[in-house]
Amino acid sequence: PAENKYEFIQVSEPRQAVGLVTINRPKALNALSTQVINELNAALLSLQQAPEIRSIVLTGSERAFAAGADIKEMAPLTFSKAYLDFFIESWSNLTFTIKKPIIAAVSGHALGGGCELALMADIIYCTKKANFAQPEITLGTIPGAGGSQRLTRAVGKSKAMELILTGNNFSGEEAERWGVAAKAFDSYDELMEGALKTAEKIAKHSKVAVQAAKEVVNKSQELGLRDGVDYERRVFHALFGSQDQKIGMKAFADKKSPEWVHE
Ligand code: CAA
Repeated sequence: PAENKYEFIQVSEPRQAVGLVTINRPKALNALSTQVINELNAALLSLQQAPEIRSIVLTGSERAFAAGADIKEMAPLTFSKAYLDFFIESWSNLTFTIKKPIIAAVSGHALGGGCELALMADIIYCTKKANFAQPEITLGTIPGAGGSQRLTRAVGKSKAMELILTGNNFSGEEAERWGVAAKAFDSYDELMEGALKTAEKIAKHSKVAVQAAKEVVNKSQELGLRDGVDYERRVFHALFGSQDQKIGMKAFADKKSPEWVHE
């Protein structure tokens, strides 16, 4: 993943087994044009397919994670073009195609589609000063990349309704308090270090167990409790078929660290 063949996305492996994807369109505060999303999807897919990568950090710059979908691109769009081109549908690849854990490291603006992109990640880390909002209402429209669904699941209906109907901003500190973000950091450097450290820790676990854990937690967002618990149990049972379950439990009994084979 070291090669950079994209205009607006950078891909690197700053820590062993950790892929870092950086949105880099500074002139437009990382506004998510179709090209940015296409490149982002391609970059994430390349990390999904790279066997040596076991977790991913997705970030922007200190000033902007992403200031939303590209308003200049959307302004002239018609209903039929948006409908026929499945406009914004491919953004969901991040959630539905990438099976490796993704940590969004959010600093600066995460507005509209930028907030929604962060919400598609598995874990959000942010700076305390990060600036989140779903401001689409101020543009005469509504969130179009899952914000009304994912933000509501994260903060509950009343607060999500308030945020989406007013377009009000909320800080990284609030995002942490409300459970939108797992952790808010004092500075950008601490944020990046924290995100990479957690990604590294995840990458040290069994790849099979990590993928299964992500899968079952995500199911909780879609299924009722009884079906979700049934689903979890099925996957839990399935893991008795993995070598890493045997390795992990034997290492515990032997008082040793497990040496995963990721199978
Ligand atoms: N789309 C396109 N261009 C954008 C952009 C966006 N979402 N956000 C910022 N830019 C561009 C600006 O137009 C400006 O370009 P020019 O220099 O060519 O004029 C450049 O980025 C820098 O922005 P500002 O000069 O505005 O910087 P600022 O520091 O004064 O303000 C800001 C920063 C508050 C983030 C402001 O840029 C802003 O309000 N941006 C729009 C935020 C927004 O409404 N996002 C939601 C988009 S709708 C959406 O995302 C739909 C969906 O659900 C998928």
